[in-house]
Amino acid sequence: MGSFGILVVRTMLVLSLYLAAFRPTVLAASFYDYFTAYGDSEHVVVASGGQSAQLVLDEKAAAGFGSTNKYLFGSVSTQIKLIPGNSAGTVLAYYMSSNTAAHDEIDFEFLGNTSGQPYSVQTNIYASGVGGREQRVFLWFDPTTSFHTYAFLWNKAQIIFYVDSIPIRVFKNNEDIGVPFPTSQPMSIYSSLWNGDQWATRGGAVKLNWTYAPFITSYQSFQIDACVASTSSNADCPANSKWNQASFQILSNNDRIALESVRQNYMTYDYCSDRKRYSTVPAECARNTV
Ligand SMILES: *[C@@H]1O[C@H](CO)[C@@H](O)[C@H](O)[C@H]1NC(C)=O
Ligand SMILES: *[C@@H]1O[C@H](CO)[C@@H](O)[C@H](O)[C@H]1NC(C)=O
Repeated sequence: MGSFGILVVRTMLVLSLYLAAFRPTVLAASFYDYFTAYGDSEHVVVASGGQSAQLVLDEKAAAGFGSTNKYLFGSVSTQIKLIPGNSAGTVLAYYMSSNTAAHDEIDFEFLGNTSGQPYSVQTNIYASGVGGREQRVFLWFDPTTSFHTYAFLWNKAQIIFYVDSIPIRVFKNNEDIGVPFPTSQPMSIYSSLWNGDQWATRGGAVKLNWTYAPFITSYQSFQIDACVASTSSNADCPANSKWNQASFQILSNNDRIALESVRQNYMTYDYCSDRKRYSTVPAECARNTV
């Protein structure tokens, strides 16, 4: 790993913590303000009056929650603490989806691993039902010992995935070269925890071991600053709304440097360079690096 890259990421992290410390304290919204539990109260545990929640996966059931509203464009974030210890075979998804036939979807997927080994986060984007755009990065911290912030920015020009305010991926609107981009279907926000041991850990070689259950992920600081689409059309969320302002349509210089550093130091898989899967480089790839 390039030490410069690590330095950049660390500097960004320190900077974001510093900025966070000087932001006025806003009481985070409650789980109940935004979400509906999918599962019983043993598997979706909401505590502190909705300020925190846990998903519990055991042999009886998987668990999840989803937003009551659908949104079109905005910024969505939550703090998550991942499963400690042996989490091999588990998948925690945190994503937005239109849930339509030709669906749009923006995914974070945390792939469990055996104890003490690093955790990968996989991201993917579906537009008009077409996905297959996986990227994976190793997280540069232990995500199982404390809460970290995972966020999406989505507007008509780009989608950015952030980890602790550090961009780990950008996906630009490349409709001009024929690549579909989510611009018109409102999406709900979901998180779910399930057994994905067919593929999640070393391509499915390492299976989930129920001896280590229950597998628990914890959430806090639910923040959704996004346009609520009250119908399935986008009429309520004009393309000139807050998150579509010019400043959000580009990556800032700091973001560009940090993203490049993450790509160089922590990326372990990129569909753009998988020639077994895509014999020619997908059209959008050249535009989604920095
Ligand atoms: C699990 O950890 C091993 C060892 O560090 C690593 O090679 C592997 O890619 C990890 N798998 C996932 C899914 O993170
Ligand atoms: C599951 O984990 C337990 C405790 O480490 C171990 O004894 C057992 O062999 C494991 N089962 C499998 C199928 O690997």
